[in-house]
Amino acid sequence: MNLPTEVRYRRYEDWTEADVQRLIDNKAKSPWLTTFHIEPQTGLLNDPNGFSYFNGQFHLFYQNWPYGPAHGLKQWVHTVSDDLVHFKETDTRLLPDQKHDSHGAYSGSAYTVDDKLFIFYTGNVRDENWVRDPLQVGAWMDKEGHIEKFDKVLIQQPDDVTEHFRDPQIFDYQGQFYAIVGAQSLDKKGFIKLYKAVNNQVSNWEFVGDLDFGGTGSEYMIECPNLVFVDDQPVLLYSPQGLDKSELDYDNIYPNTYKIYQSFDTNKAKLLDGTPIQNLDYGFEAYATQGFNAPDGKVYTVSWIGLPDVDYPTDQYDYQGAMSLVKELHIKNGKLYQYPVEAIQNLRTSQEPLASKTSTQNTYELEITVPAGDKSELLLLSDAEGNGLNITIDTQDGQIIVDRSTVGEQYAIDFGRTRNCSIDKTDTTLNIFIDKSIFEIFVNKGEKVFTGRVFPNENQTGITVKKGQISGSYFELTY
Ligand code: FRU
Repeated sequence: MNLPTEVRYRRYEDWTEADVQRLIDNKAKSPWLTTFHIEPQTGLLNDPNGFSYFNGQFHLFYQNWPYGPAHGLKQWVHTVSDDLVHFKETDTRLLPDQKHDSHGAYSGSAYTVDDKLFIFYTGNVRDENWVRDPLQVGAWMDKEGHIEKFDKVLIQQPDDVTEHFRDPQIFDYQGQFYAIVGAQSLDKKGFIKLYKAVNNQVSNWEFVGDLDFGGTGSEYMIECPNLVFVDDQPVLLYSPQGLDKSELDYDNIYPNTYKIYQSFDTNKAKLLDGTPIQNLDYGFEAYATQGFNAPDGKVYTVSWIGLPDVDYPTDQYDYQGAMSLVKELHIKNGKLYQYPVEAIQNLRTSQEPLASKTSTQNTYELEITVPAGDKSELLLLSDAEGNGLNITIDTQDGQIIVDRSTVGEQYAIDFGRTRNCSIDKTDTTLNIFIDKSIFEIFVNKGEKVFTGRVFPNENQTGITVKKGQISGSYFELTY
């Protein structure tokens, strides 16, 4: 939603309780509130931030402008979880309240250091002429959730970047802390800078080099770069804005991509033997995915189900954006797999054959199989007129098509109403999670993923097998 700058950057103390209550009341009227996905308490939710394990729990923050469905003065909102399925919002906020983050506590990461959580984020600062000074700054969060910010700036804006320099990710590589930061060069190409914690102290960072990740620089900015290590293989997750479509086919306004490597040479700031760039998600919206290597040896990721510069039907209810399910990463036969954590199965409360299920509450999981040589079509969130979210699983020609053109309120139509990806021409399994206005489709247990939103009408609650040899189960999900 377009709101004037002075509204979006009004100081938090200048909003009244009545303003907030109005937002809460309007959001409560939405027919599209999700049940097992994180949505903002008020306003806009964007990137996942500070995804980490600390003090015996998982921590996940989200970027938020609390005063409406627009990108304004951002804060971080804190949630905790024991199982990566149920998240509880706490009162902790990383507020834009200091001179080094006066115009927004922008995206970043977190890592446990001794008995505190170190938070590394971008302080968005603007001067009286609205010129931006992007600063990489830090804070400690203690076990009680109190936040204490560093007085000093941890990384200043280097000479060879524009105002687009943000989203530090801290990671531990062989016992040494490093950080990568998304950047734009003076000739407007996206790149990534690599830093190292001096003497492994997170209060002191030195530049190592511009990360050679095998990119071509066809993007104009790289947002939210993340380096994780999946079974020891480096995987770079990133959001390259403006990436040339000759390099990668994508339909969303900005893609969310990855590359898998064989090794990481920290001295040379180089990721070696990378795969070609690939889409992390084939759906309509998944962005700014953040991942981390957890102490349990697993790699977890979570994505913003939303995109910058897009208006959503929920704007009329004064809120926007949701978090994806938490996914676990694996590499099998050189391919990246993303699949919801096992605990998601605890939400299953009943199981029925798919064939017997025609009407639903739009809160369920389907586990279905389509045999090789088939052309199946499944309509979810369907109504009596034959509208709905149409999923074609074509194991004859080897593709999946997701078409949302006849379900509910349409938006972002300039970017197309269908998405597709290729699949092997073999028996294919789909796990489909539906949560009121979100779908997450996992093909062959995470080999390909489609994430997206749909905003169904009241009567769009059905499941219709339109054609083909689809078989499988329906699971009611209860949060
Ligand atoms: C990505 C992003 C980040 C930035 C944040 C601000 O969606 O633009 O690069 O830190 O959102 O909210």
